[in-house]
Amino acid sequence: MKNTLSDLLSARYGKNPVALDFELNSTLETLLSHKSIRHYLDKPLPDGALELMIAAAQSAASSSNLQLWSVVAVTDYERKQRLSALSSNQSQITQAPLFLVWLADVSRLDSIMTSDNLDPQGLYQLDLFLIAIIDAA
Ligand SMILES: Cc1cc2nc3c(=O)[nH]c(=O)nc-3n(C[C@H](O)[C@H](O)[C@H](O)COP(=O)(O)O)c2cc1C
Repeated sequence: MKNTLSDLLSARYGKNPVALDFELNSTLETLLSHKSIRHYLDKPLPDGALELMIAAAQSAASSSNLQLWSVVAVTDYERKQRLSALSSNQSQITQAPLFLVWLADVSRLDSIMTSDNLDPQGLYQLDLFLIAIIDAA
């Protein structure tokens, strides 16, 4: 059965906390249905899935559109094991066929500024550090 707005709100809050003069749309449905998944099928992703996910991520808001993040795609089992150990042994990291490591990363902007003979020192201040973390998140 298809979810209604009332179903989704009730599932999250135990009861529907808002007046119902609103229509469910796909954006609301995606957000209200969100839950973390920590079990994965043991098979590689289809071709193009990684690129599609990165395109979706790159479409997110980015402070001044600086895109101060990078992502590293990890499929190697031993490497995933080491990353799992660094993350309090979260087993889903090893189990997932693909693990994405999201980095707050000002190095690309540093390279651009340096190649344009601009001083990149301003990148290494608290506000840019925070922006990079928020962009990555
Ligand atoms: C900044 C941040 C860090 C998180 N770190 C982890 C994590 O290390 N491992 C994990 O399994 N989930 C992690 N989560 C997911 C949260 O545990 C999860 O979103 C929260 O418990 C609510 O559950 P839900 O996503 O199913 O609604 C993280 C979420 C955020 C926003």
